Amino acid sequence: MGRNCIAVDMDKEMIDGAKQNVEWALQNDSTKSKYQIMIGDACNLEDSIPKQWHGKISGVVLDPPYGRNSHGTHEHFELISNAIDSMTKVVSDKAKLVLIIPIKPSESDDDIQLLHGDWGEFVSMMNQSGAEIINHWREHVHASLARLILLASIAPRD
Ligand SMILES: C[S@@+](CC[C@H](N)C(=O)[O-])C[C@H]1O[C@@H](n2cnc3c(N)ncnc32)[C@H](O)[C@@H]1O
Repeated sequence: MGRNCIAVDMDKEMIDGAKQNVEWALQNDSTKSKYQIMIGDACNLEDSIPKQWHGKISGVVLDPPYGRNSHGTHEHFELISNAIDSMTKVVSDKAKLVLIIPIKPSESDDDIQLLHGDWGEFVSMMNQSGAEIINHWREHVHASLARLILLASIAPRD
């Protein structure tokens, strides 16, 4: 898409895999997108993202761990809310957040059941974090899993 991007994960194995995927995906890329893939903490982007990009990041995509964080540092919602808090320290005005969350498959668009946690509590957590939900879409994965792709706006905060 020609976007420049910085990708962060705390696990070196995931970083190495992501680098291989991006190299494969961009092998015929004509847009000359620039990207950096680095070890860092989504809950401390201020220290993880190079200073030159602070205030210039217009979009963030967060694909948090499912259920309990494998690193045991945060519960699911707590990690998301801490990550949103840390995003507000590095994003530009009018930034957007795309969040990917596992849900149970359902026929109805109004019936959202998270795989881990309660949808109502999730929405409260988003409101308390200052993230405004704009829209969401379902993506079918298999018989017992779907994903919610959620778009929200986030604003810079000191
Ligand atoms: C559902 S996976 C997403 C993987 C990634 N989207 C990919 O496909 O390369 C969740 C990832 O979150 C990472 N993670 C968990 N806590 C984190 C944190 N505080 N900061 C950065 N990454 C974290 C885990 O290492 C894991 O790779």
